[in-house]
Amino acid sequence: MSDRTIGYIVGSISSTSINRRLAKALERLAPAGTTLVEIPIKDLPFYSPDHDADYPAVATEFKNAIDEVDGVIIVTPEYSRSIPGVLKNALDWAARPWGQGSFDGKPTAVIGTSQGGIATAAAQQHLKAILSHYNAPTLGQPEGYVQTTPGLFTDAGEVTNDQTAEFLVSYLEAFGALVDRYARVPASA
Ligand SMILES: Cc1cc2nc3c(=O)[nH]c(=O)nc-3n(C[C@H](O)[C@H](O)[C@H](O)COP(=O)(O)O)c2cc1C
Repeated sequence: MSDRTIGYIVGSISSTSINRRLAKALERLAPAGTTLVEIPIKDLPFYSPDHDADYPAVATEFKNAIDEVDGVIIVTPEYSRSIPGVLKNALDWAARPWGQGSFDGKPTAVIGTSQGGIATAAAQQHLKAILSHYNAPTLGQPEGYVQTTPGLFTDAGEVTNDQTAEFLVSYLEAFGALVDRYARVPASA
């Protein structure tokens, strides 16, 4: 296994986000050789094409952060059977300026948790359609549908259910394998 750095985006800016807890759990469970780092979205202003000629620093930093990692996991809630607006706004910044899409060729994975039985499945289908449009290879299996129960994740990201923890490890291993398949060959090779 090669060393890899994987970024994660949390599609919720809630101070009590269960998806942030899930992201912290993934961070804790990362296998040896894999480092997870957050790519924050909460300070991004609303995207407008007016910014294309001169991106604000915070948006340039966001795009650079995606460039610097080997793959990106998007951990998202479901809002009205789709993704939250704050996440779509971040993705719009990443997609532009035209021809400079940050997700072009970037290995991605989606995962999310909710109290509901379908556990963000509808949101994830919308998100996968967006990532496909970006030409981002996306993990197909295992699918990241995690139903939250009270106390499943602690604030610090501990997972209190062994089966869930095992699933998250297998999810990270599968994504690591996808990332490795798409790893860039050094230009000097
Ligand atoms: C505007 C809004 C829409 C929601 N729509 C859905 C939904 O379609 N499906 C679902 O399972 N939960 C839905 N929920 C409940 C969220 O799953 C729940 O609030 C969850 O805690 C959000 O994730 P977070 O804690 O990481 O922010 C919705 C919540 C909000 C605020």
